[in-house]
Amino acid sequence: MKNIDILAILTDGKTFEGKSVNVAGWVRTARDSKTMAFLNVNDGTSLRHLQIVIDKTKFAEADIAPVMKNGASVSVDGTVVKAMKEGEYELNAEKIELLGDCPADYPLQKKYHSMEFLRTIPQLRVRTNTFNAMLRVRSKLSFAIHRFFQENGFCYIHTPIITGSDCEGAGEIFRVTTNGYADAKTVKDEAEYIAGDFFKRKAGLTVSGQLEGEVAAMAMGKIYTFGPTFRAENSNTPRHAAEFWQVEPEVAFAKLPDIIEIAQSMIKYIINAVIEECPEELAFFEKAFEAGLREKLQNVVDSDFKVLDYGEAIKILEESGEKFQYPVGWGLDLQSEHERYITEKVFNKPVFVTNYPKKIKSFYMKQNDDGLTVAATDLLVPGVGEIIGCSEREADFEKLKAAMLERNMNLDDYVGYMDLRKYGSVPHSGFGLGLERIMMYVTGISNIRDVQLYARTAGDLM
Ligand code: 4AD
Ligand code: MG
Repeated sequence: MKNIDILAILTDGKTFEGKSVNVAGWVRTARDSKTMAFLNVNDGTSLRHLQIVIDKTKFAEADIAPVMKNGASVSVDGTVVKAMKEGEYELNAEKIELLGDCPADYPLQKKYHSMEFLRTIPQLRVRTNTFNAMLRVRSKLSFAIHRFFQENGFCYIHTPIITGSDCEGAGEIFRVTTNGYADAKTVKDEAEYIAGDFFKRKAGLTVSGQLEGEVAAMAMGKIYTFGPTFRAENSNTPRHAAEFWQVEPEVAFAKLPDIIEIAQSMIKYIINAVIEECPEELAFFEKAFEAGLREKLQNVVDSDFKVLDYGEAIKILEESGEKFQYPVGWGLDLQSEHERYITEKVFNKPVFVTNYPKKIKSFYMKQNDDGLTVAATDLLVPGVGEIIGCSEREADFEKLKAAMLERNMNLDDYVGYMDLRKYGSVPHSGFGLGLERIMMYVTGISNIRDVQLYARTAGDLM
């Protein structure tokens, strides 16, 4: 490999000026005139392309024609020179090699393709500007997440992907089994079916690393997980994926206000990182997806989030005079339309809604003294809705057990989790940030299918 990154020439052209270099990439556009030909080549290191200038008098026509095709891969030796536009550089070709031909049925011939069409070609949509920018932002965002936690003394923990428990208790678990169709037909009941399975008990893909994250936090103090989670959620919405990445810190000795503080600092830190490290990508998203995107993100970094009690949120919704599709009332869950009203119409910034009724939340959340609510909060943001689910955990053995029994949970599946309340229990809190949800917020891309390399939603497995 002798090629240098196109990004290096684009950002540091002065050092390369007059020098001979090799670049390799895919032709994004090709333009021809009588004496000159131009290729815009992208190698993935930048959202911008490098212009290759071909003096046709120096090449045989047979060498030029095959590279003048969108999608073809090329290797070019040439001299870096100043472009017409002040401060920009291009490459005067000296030798051009076609690495891979790209026939005329290559689907990306137009400047604009609908996101729906692009979903049908995940293997090629990565070669559009949108996916180039999205994947780079996702990479920078992910690394910033690690940096934030590493700089603050958190230990990175890899929690299991295969589990025997259901953290969110919603039963949205993908089963993991080595049993097949034939096994199901020959057994007399479910018990026998499971006894003959790989783990000899029900297993599934994790919906959240939290329960095991709590185990780690009860020894390591401050931990975070960052990995794939899975939900067999059959809701066909633009915000739900069957496979998505979650960042889940868990902090010993932290109470709800402490974890809210951590969540806010983390969101500000990672958004600021994207503002600093991806200015071209954000400018692109602002133009193509969301007007005012950069100002919105800067405001998030510069001002504090709203903290709003669930009860007050209900009051605001009841007094809003809005006609909502779903009913509003104390004890009912907030639907997406309610979340968006609060965060978009009322506050126009991120809002932590706190102290939800315990009946609509998970078993592990700390029960407040009022006997009705739990010390939980969701972070809602304009345009997307919930991006974080957060709570202080119930640290009292008996209260936790009662909450599990109320939900008809099988205590045998949670013996290890309950042990944490038996041996040296401490107050602790944590949250889960959906990586795809924050990606939607940061890029303005409105469908979760377009912030993943491969969309993973019901009925869709490309
Ligand atoms: O609110 P959730 O269900 O909370 C938990 O899983 C907790 N165990 C987290 C914790 O405290 N450690 O999910 C957390 C976040 C949501 O706020 C959302 O951003 C994202 O995960 N999320 C999804 N993202 C995409 N598709 C789905 N189907 C999602 N379900 C949740
Ligand atoms: Mg939630």
